[in-house]
Amino acid sequence: MTGQNRLKLGIFSPNCSSGMAVTKIPERWDNSWENNIELVQMCDAAGLEFMLPIARWIGYGGETDFHGSVLETITWAAGLLAHSKDIHVFATVHTAFNHPIVSAKQLATIDQLGKGRLGLNVVAGWNKPEYDAFGVALPEAHDERYERAQEWFEYVQKLWKEKRAFDWNGKYFQGTGVYGNPRPVQSRVPILNAAASQQGRAFATRNADFLLTPVFDFDQATETVNDLNRQAQTVKREIGVFTISAVVCRPTQKEAEEYLDYYANQNADWEAVDYLMKLQGMHAQSFTPEALANFRDRFAAGHGAFPLVGTPDHIADQLEKLSHTGLKGTTLAFVDYVKEFPYFRDEVIPRLEKKGLRNKN
Ligand SMILES: Cc1cc2nc3c(=O)[nH]c(=O)nc-3n(C[C@H](O)[C@H](O)[C@H](O)COP(=O)(O)O)c2cc1C
Repeated sequence: MTGQNRLKLGIFSPNCSSGMAVTKIPERWDNSWENNIELVQMCDAAGLEFMLPIARWIGYGGETDFHGSVLETITWAAGLLAHSKDIHVFATVHTAFNHPIVSAKQLATIDQLGKGRLGLNVVAGWNKPEYDAFGVALPEAHDERYERAQEWFEYVQKLWKEKRAFDWNGKYFQGTGVYGNPRPVQSRVPILNAAASQQGRAFATRNADFLLTPVFDFDQATETVNDLNRQAQTVKREIGVFTISAVVCRPTQKEAEEYLDYYANQNADWEAVDYLMKLQGMHAQSFTPEALANFRDRFAAGHGAFPLVGTPDHIADQLEKLSHTGLKGTTLAFVDYVKEFPYFRDEVIPRLEKKGLRNKN
């Protein structure tokens, strides 16, 4: 995560059934353990920087119950770290549903296991059915969600640093004689956050090393990156802004577009798409109302991710343009990650190396 590549690449959501594609096609992503291990080993060998899971507790319904099956992210990260060598593996932790003492120890344990390759994606939570499942009230105000997230984060950081037992008397958590041992191997576990609301972005620029945000076109991406960089500068920090992409890479543009039409139009699970978009619109601000109105097709194709659809040349050019907006990296998702990643690795990555966006592995 701290390497020299100008455009960092990671894989997003392979722990979830159907990955990022809200589709009914029978060959949609199977999030089995075997597939995840095969994928991490391929990505590790190809020099990708990271693997990023989604923490999801309740699926989105529809015919496929999109994201109805999800490998829990801390245990997933532990397994992937044990089966890889260089790649960073993130765990995604909901601050609303996890106690800081438990999370701090789980995360420290797996950073030991991975010899310093853990990353932490901190999520405040936004999905009402999940709050209902946990019996926790979803605070309507983003202020409160991120106030709790801030306290959770500071508590975890203290557990990772403080050598002696201490008391914690916060608004959301209290404890006496608390300590965390062992600590992570890394002096700073890379922190990622994907907030979009004003309060969320203040949280991210204050605490995170990387901020993930959906982008819709190159101009809007440039504006977003500049805004976020400015916001980070006001608190004297630097933050790497990343986006999320969905890839269909084929030898010809026609083949790529036909496949996109097949899985994300003719066979989209529209009921799940609409429910996902409705929930996003109600409780999260990752997507603006205009984006939600205009990008139903992008939700079917990749959960709202930026579409990279076409030949290796076209996709490498698109990635170069994304990099020119100031983005430091992107996540990638494929309909079938294991089947499709090798073509991306063999055809797109060498083109990125020629463009100076990545060094030879
Ligand atoms: C790349 C990315 C990854 C995210 N991962 C998760 C996740 O795993 N679980 C989750 O509940 N929310 C996740 N979110 C949602 C964010 O944490 C955040 O709640 C959302 O972007 C809305 O921002 P807001 O909370 O500031 O309104 C993710 C968002 C993005 C863009």
